Amino acid sequence: MSLSLHPKARACGKIILMGEHAVVYGVPALAAGLPDALELTARPLEDRFAPMTVRIPDWELDLRLTPDTEHPVARACLEVLGFCDGPITGWAIEGATKLPARAGLGSSAALTVGIARLALGPDADLETVVHASIAGERIFHGEPSGIDSEVAARGGLIRYVRGASVEPIPLPRPLALAIIPSRVPRSTADQVAKVRARHDRFPKLARPMIDLLGGAVDATIEAINANDLDALGEIMTIAHALLGGLDVSSPILDELCYVARAAGAKGAKLTGAGGGGCILAVPPDPAAPLLEAFEARGMVPFLVHLEPTPA
Ligand code: PMV
Repeated sequence: MSLSLHPKARACGKIILMGEHAVVYGVPALAAGLPDALELTARPLEDRFAPMTVRIPDWELDLRLTPDTEHPVARACLEVLGFCDGPITGWAIEGATKLPARAGLGSSAALTVGIARLALGPDADLETVVHASIAGERIFHGEPSGIDSEVAARGGLIRYVRGASVEPIPLPRPLALAIIPSRVPRSTADQVAKVRARHDRFPKLARPMIDLLGGAVDATIEAINANDLDALGEIMTIAHALLGGLDVSSPILDELCYVARAAGAKGAKLTGAGGGGCILAVPPDPAAPLLEAFEARGMVPFLVHLEPTPA
């Protein structure tokens, strides 16, 4: 077991462009990293046997990692440290982030990847970091597909098939997307369980929807490559309807998608587990009317610009 942590680590947040939930069932999904979403720093405590602390004021987290803790985030951090054979006492970890917590933007994967990097160091092999993060993610929901951990560790745009492949997808030019947080909290575990229930009750209806969502991934990549933002938006709108069919949308998410489209978005869908969290929209150019429509409702929309990546 190592007794020390590295002083700094970073991890990405994420948006799922296509294939959330369906990815749990082995079809492809497409996700993009939100760079440098979380920065962690570690400093040694005077007493090296004192419980480790994790403080992330932006998420109102102030935890002591005692072995009997029932706090899921503390348990996830301990799980990651155990996986990495790192210290579990004697250190204070501080985090700074602009990412909202529990909004489907990958906050838990960013944290577990960051903790793994503090324990394993900046040169750690990516696969080990991802596996350590997944060990922590299992505390939050029983069957994580691993997509959040992969993209939190790697960044960029990735096409992911559970247990089979992670393919970085080159982005030929910058891509602007709008994120609109509903500010409704939700549990990924509950949302994953809702899909499981619908899948088990109506397999002949649910399975084709899952396959369509998986198929929409390559259509999404084609639309991005062709810079066809109208097609990208329309595919997202179709995906939102399919996710509703899998029981993971909600009245507020449906309404936000409707408002986005009425304000000029080329299409919109929920992103992440749904039920609350955020929607993702392809903004009009300029994006101001879309942002203003949500601001007028007291909401806090924001734009992300995915940076081009080489082929
Ligand atoms: O926790 P979220 O909102 O990032 O959702 C995770 C993505 C799911 O596909 C819903 C679950 C999974 O493990 O892939």
